[in-house]
This record gives sequence, C-alpha cells and structure tokens, in this order.
Amino acid sequence: MMNYKLLIGTVVFVIASNAMRSQTNEMYINVTKKSATVQPTMYGLFFEDINYGADGGLYAELVKNRSFEFPQNLMAWKTFGKVDLLADGPFERNPHYVRLSYPEHEHKRTGLENEGYFGIGLKKGEEYRFSVWARLPEETKAAKIRVELVKPNSQGEEHAIASQEIVIDSKEWKKYQILMKPQITEAKSILRIFLASQTPVDLEHISLFPVDTWKGHENGLRKDLVQALADIKPGIFRFPGGCIVEGTDLNTRYDWKKTIGPVENRPLNENRWHYTFQHRFYPDYYQSYGLGFYEFFVLSEEIGAEPLPVLSCGLACQFQNNKPEAHVPVSDLGPYIQDALDLIEFANGDVQSTWGKIRAEMGHPEPFNLKVIAVGNEQWGPEYPERLEAFVNAIRKTCPEIRIIGSSGPDSEGKQFDYLWPEMKRLNVDLVDEHFYRPENWFLTQAGRYDNYDRKGPKVFAGEYACHGKGKKWNHFHASLLEAAFMTGLERNADIVHMATYAPLLAHVEGWQWRPDMIWFDNLNCVRTASYYVQQLYSHNKGSHVLSLTMNQKPVTGAENQNGLFASAVWEEETNTVIVKVVNTSGEKQAIALNFSGLKKREILKDGTCIRLHSDNSDADNTLEQPSVIFPQESRISIDKNGFHTELEANTFAVYRFEVSD
Ligand code: AHR
Repeated sequence: MMNYKLLIGTVVFVIASNAMRSQTNEMYINVTKKSATVQPTMYGLFFEDINYGADGGLYAELVKNRSFEFPQNLMAWKTFGKVDLLADGPFERNPHYVRLSYPEHEHKRTGLENEGYFGIGLKKGEEYRFSVWARLPEETKAAKIRVELVKPNSQGEEHAIASQEIVIDSKEWKKYQILMKPQITEAKSILRIFLASQTPVDLEHISLFPVDTWKGHENGLRKDLVQALADIKPGIFRFPGGCIVEGTDLNTRYDWKKTIGPVENRPLNENRWHYTFQHRFYPDYYQSYGLGFYEFFVLSEEIGAEPLPVLSCGLACQFQNNKPEAHVPVSDLGPYIQDALDLIEFANGDVQSTWGKIRAEMGHPEPFNLKVIAVGNEQWGPEYPERLEAFVNAIRKTCPEIRIIGSSGPDSEGKQFDYLWPEMKRLNVDLVDEHFYRPENWFLTQAGRYDNYDRKGPKVFAGEYACHGKGKKWNHFHASLLEAAFMTGLERNADIVHMATYAPLLAHVEGWQWRPDMIWFDNLNCVRTASYYVQQLYSHNKGSHVLSLTMNQKPVTGAENQNGLFASAVWEEETNTVIVKVVNTSGEKQAIALNFSGLKKREILKDGTCIRLHSDNSDADNTLEQPSVIFPQESRISIDKNGFHTELEANTFAVYRFEVSD
C-alpha cells in the first residue's frame, strides 16, 4: 500500500526542486576534465596607424611634418619673414629643409611655427627635448635661433611657456638639442622658432619629444598609451595594419625596409586613412615611419607580447584599387617574397647576417624571437591564394620554423569566406585570420561559431573584431558586454582559436576615422573603454587549460532557454585556480549555481573573488572627462562546499576565481 505521507513528501520535494531548477541556472564544471591548452598568445593587440594611432598618438613626436616632406612642404608650418625651402639637405630620402635669413631690419622677424597634431600637448614641469639639424649656410660667425613653446590665447594674447636659445656654430650639418620645461600644462601649444641673429641658418628635421617616454627611449612612445597596452598583458602584438599594409597602390604599401635605420632618413609615406572616408578627411595625415618595424619589435618585447608582423602579399588594397594592373603579377613577386625572408632575418638572424647586423646596429643584438608572420590583410579572390602560395613555398623552404597566417577576407561569412577557407587549408597555412565588425545580433548568436570547426585544419586568429552596436554612443557598455559574451566561445574553443585581437586599438578624439576603438586619447590623457576592460579581464584570466562547463548538458552559448547567459571555464595551472566567466546579457537578474566536480578527495575549493563589469545604463561609456564610469569591481565571495550560488545582475560580465587547495 502506498504511504501517502511519503508520496506527499516526494511530490513536495519534486515541485520544490523543479521550481528551484527553473529559477536557478545550474552550471556544471568538471575540474579534472582539462582539455585544450589555452595558448599564451590567446588575447593580444592589433595596432594600426589609423585615427592618428601612430603619428600624433603612440609615437611621441610632437612636431608634424618635421622634415618638410609632406607633398605641400610647409604643411603644418607657418612661416614669417624670409624663409626659403631648399632641397639638397643631408638626408637623401628627405632632402628638404628651410633657410631662415635676416629680414634686413632689426625689428623685423624671420621664423616659423609648427601646429603639432591638433596642437602640441605639454605638461607643466615635464622636460621636452627639442632637437634640430642645422648648419650655417655661409662661412660666417655663429648664428642663433630662439625656440619657444607658446600657449596661444583665444583673445589674441599669447605667451611663451618655455623659451631658449641655441647657437649654431658650424658650416657642417649637426644635430643640436636642448631640454625645455613648460611652466604650465597646455594641450594646444605651438612651437615657434625665431632667427635671433643677423647670420642666416639652415634647419632640418625639427623635432620635439617628451623626455619621459615609455622606458625613457629617445624617438620613444607615449608613456600613458603604452602603459595601457602593457596593462592588458597581451600575448600577441599584430602590426602595422590593417589596410595600411596593402596601400591604395603598391607604391604606398607599408614597406618595412623603409621604416628602419636613422629616423631622419626614413621616407614619408602617405596614410590611406587621410582620405578613405570623405566625411572624416584629414589632408595632413601621413606616416613618418618614426615608429617603424624596429620600434614595433622592441615594443612587443617590452609589453611581453609575441610580435606578429603583417606583410604585403603583392596586392594593393582591393577595396580601393582592384584593377589587375594595380597588383604585382605572380611572376614578379620575387622582391615581395624577399622582403618577407629578409624580415625574418632582421628579427631573428645572427648579428653577422645582413639584416641581423642592422638590427644589432640599431641597438638590439639579441634576436626578437619572431615565430609567426601574416601575409596579406583582407584579400580576396583567386589572386590571393595564388600569391600566398609563392610566399608559403619560399618561407617553408628557408624558414620552416616560422608559422604563416593567411586571410579569410574581409567578411565573417559569405562567398569570399567560403572560398578562402578551403584555399587556406589547401595551402596548409598555420592560422587563418578572420575579421568581424558586426552588430549586436551577430555577437549574440556567434558564441557557438567555432564549436563545429574542422579540428584538423589551420588554427583560427580572430584578428580584427568589435561589436558595432546600435547604441546611442560608440564604445557603449552594451556592445562590450556582447563582446564578452561572444568571447566565451573563443575561450571554449581554445584548441583551435589561438589568437584574438580587438580592433582598432587607438583613436585621437579629434582625429578619428573609425569607431568604436579600444583606447581614446587627446594630447594629454587617454581613456580605457569598456571594451578595453573586457579584453583585459579575458587576458588576465585566460588560464592554461579549458574546462568543460555545461548547463543541461550543453555549452552555455546564449541559446534558446539559456536565459541570455554565456559561460566558459578555464584552469590556471600556475595558481591551481578554477576561473569561470559568466555573461548575463538578459535584462533580468539570474540565479546561477556553479557546481564543481572532479576534485580529488583531499582537495577543496577555497573562497574566491568575483570581478564584475556592469552598468545599469547600457549606453554608458567612459570618456576623457569621466574615465571610470565602467570599471571592473572586485569582491570576495564564499563558496558553499563545492558549489557557488549567486544572483547575477542583469547586463553583467562576471569572472569568478576559486583556488583549489588540499
Ligand atoms: O581596423 C580598421 C580596418 O578594418 C583595418 O585596416 C582593415 O583590416 C579592416 O577593414
């Protein structure tokens, strides 16, 4: 006979546990099931000189058109008095310079002014190194120039915030330099140079740098910006682009060989971002190459990232210029392939080798330990694989240790993508670069993207991506939340996704062409966006091995019945820690239970930490004025035996860390 009391008890228990189940999102993490290794390169950075990212940004030079080589030679300069432009200067690839002559009256003035990049940003009490190559054009006694840093005043009054004289005493070209210390902070100063003698003087390569650059390097980089990059702890650093690698025509492609050696003799190149978007037209945006391949390699090393150079494959930018004659015929690819081989020698070669010697002379005898290069950026059509094939054959033959990245074109799916992936497999490249600048819905539905990728083919490099959300603002919180959600899928598939880099990286608030971007800056400060913090949280918590995490026996990919939740888990070998990332993209609080299994008898999970990225306002963003509206918040959390229960707020990215101890 049925025991009714027991039956009622059982029914009550079943109802109660069902109610609980429907309310609580039960996730199961098996701590012993360590699957794929998470590559050290997994989360990195992609740098391109777009949005004044290099000249006017990361590269700390404050003078624009310092060598008078812009097509309009005096662009960014204003001259007064007797100034002549001449073209037989000491630097072969940058022959132009100016001659300042006495205006024939002691009260009249000769000189010139530089406007900098949206002004020259100067900080009170900091030192700035002004330098100039100069000579006396005639056999005369010494000449003098006065150098001033000037704060322009909107009322028409101006005053020098630093001023010094330099005596030019030689008929030979010589570098002169002084240190200047402004008395006030000013974001929009100008540089003014007066002839302060009756003797004329020739001036070339006029330069102004903060002394306090990243690691104090001369010809250095802006410290605050590099610090922001270093703080990500990136595993890989992709440079120098992007579209600028390709060039609108091949003459203007990024040619790494022109970017090394003395800066004074690095030729100017155009920057295609100056004219790409008519509504964001910047006629004075050029590449000085002051930040060149040597500096990129040093930077990679100093921020602890593996260098990843991208090279032209002999195709001009196919968006801009896809006429067959714009590209190098396959039969003439030789010099391009040689550039790739020479680059490998420049990075890794012995100091006796031709290119290794140049690296050593520039100050880095040790190799840069280059392991991987990309050939081509966003290429498409049969013209790409047929060129790539020639590179692959040559590189495999000469440098079999170097891994090669090919491209899947500009789109995340579609005709070109479907054509190129099999081609990349046929060519047996090591990784395939995928790009996706996509809207919210794409990011919400793509966390399972890599679950069914071929495990035997090339690995994936998510080389450029960002959620181009339809929020009222760019870089608003909601877009970054969806990036975090999507990235659980990268992490879960770390067996084939070996690298991922958000794009673009940097943008000057007054000079951008493309948004969203990861870090914004003006002449004095920078701001880390919500997307920056998403990248940082993934990178700092990338762990060493993927762990299995399921809900109802399925991965948590925001699928139907998963309440807008996304999740992934990793093990961090070094610290014996389980790391779980959960993203709640729903507009509601979600009860979450993390159930851990697989611990050995004596092992227990210790109380841990939770780092949350959240905003009540999905349109919120960080700005230069309010840089910390969205900021990761860390708190202690308690674990209940081998489980953790929490209520995760709506629109929240949370990282939970629990150390295992025995
Ligand atoms: O990141 C901006 C541009 O987007 C890159 O130059 C290019 O690769 C892509 O089209």
